[in-house]
Amino acid sequence: MNDELRQRLVRPRFPRSAGYDAQWMIDNWMGPSALWLAEWLCSALDLRPGARVLDLGCGRAATSIFLAKEFGVRVVAADLWVKPTENWARIDAAGQAGLVTPLLAEAHDLPFAEGYFDAIVSVDAYHYFGTDDLYLPYLSSFVAPGGGIGIAVPGLAAELDDGLPEHLVPFWEPDFWSFHSPAWWHRLWSRSGVVEDVRAEFLEDGWRDWLDWSEAVLEVTENEVPRKLVPREVGMVRADHGRNLGFTRVIARRKLPAEV
Ligand SMILES: C[S@@+](CC[C@H](N)C(=O)[O-])C[C@H]1O[C@@H](n2cnc3c(N)ncnc32)[C@H](O)[C@@H]1O
Repeated sequence: MNDELRQRLVRPRFPRSAGYDAQWMIDNWMGPSALWLAEWLCSALDLRPGARVLDLGCGRAATSIFLAKEFGVRVVAADLWVKPTENWARIDAAGQAGLVTPLLAEAHDLPFAEGYFDAIVSVDAYHYFGTDDLYLPYLSSFVAPGGGIGIAVPGLAAELDDGLPEHLVPFWEPDFWSFHSPAWWHRLWSRSGVVEDVRAEFLEDGWRDWLDWSEAVLEVTENEVPRKLVPREVGMVRADHGRNLGFTRVIARRKLPAEV
């Protein structure tokens, strides 16, 4: 990777991520820049050293490594598609074997004690399994009362209630209907009754981060999966030019027992 490309992947608003090798980030690609999203998410969470954190849908565990390195938290790196043996090698190579435990887990069948975690985070994964009314009440049972839950996901500035805009039609996949607006997430989480202090926000100009990152991946990677999937994202985000697409962050804390 040349220096010019490396420089393009340094974002002043994500100073922690800037300390990570851009080639390493791209080699562990599973979607729009995971570390930028993790950094944005964690800036709104109170993560103290030693806290137990679940990184749900961690993919190749780049975000789990980031959490451990940056905040000194103890992370369970749980994922369905990427197996623990593969992630363990990466975690060990990153010097985080003492803090990060890889685990095979299905989001609806989690093998933890109730109230075990101090916080639960999920980067670019929650929309795959968490859009129904029943999921947050289930997931929140694994965080201690008062503990934080935070997700960062691809999303929409506003719901597409009038149908899919013409310029998105050539790129749209059925999966993309799991993209939602901050207002949609705010309503889903608020009315669940199991969390409070719900905040849902759209990352300002997040589409530019999405596009720059995806273009860089295409310039560098030889991996056939991103080579197949990313051109569609690049075309879509470029055509949209920030009108609809970007990233949504949702944060809340589990209610204390007396409040439920
Ligand atoms: C787009 S990848 C993102 C991975 C990682 N968080 C990142 O940002 O690089 C989505 C991840 O969600 C995980 N996932 C999807 N459905 C899941 C489920 N039902 N239970 C657990 N993980 C799931 C997949 O295994 C996949 O690694």
